[in-house]
Amino acid sequence: MLAIQNLSRSYPGGTHALDRIDLVVPEGQVLAVLRGSGCGKSTLLRVVAGLDRPSHGRVTIDGAFVDGPHPRIGIVFQEPRLLP
Ligand SMILES: Nc1ncnc2c1ncn2[C@@H]1O[C@H](COP(=O)(O)OP(=O)(O)O)[C@@H](O)[C@H]1O
Ligand SMILES: [Mg+2]
Repeated sequence: MLAIQNLSRSYPGGTHALDRIDLVVPEGQVLAVLRGSGCGKSTLLRVVAGLDRPSHGRVTIDGAFVDGPHPRIGIVFQEPRLLP
């Protein structure tokens, strides 16, 4: 189970990309996050994947704190990064 608790992420310059997100995703559930460009989707995915740190709040997987890249989390980036 993925649990996101009171998650906020601000960037230098004052953009509050995420503001107090609470979300629980049970094992086996598929979740889609939909909204317009700039609403914070990529920021949320990076923090959940352990590739970025929250300003406040926390992310846990099966109760374990996500504080870096996690063996149970893969991420497919929006643009190819490694191959020409
Ligand atoms: N590295 C960054 N530094 C400063 N601002 C950022 C950075 N990454 C994203 N932002 C800002 O945070 C907000 C959310 O961006 P993002 O998570 O990329 O949204 P989405 O993926 O929904 O388009 C936007 O206002 C964006 O400009
Ligand atoms: Mg994005």
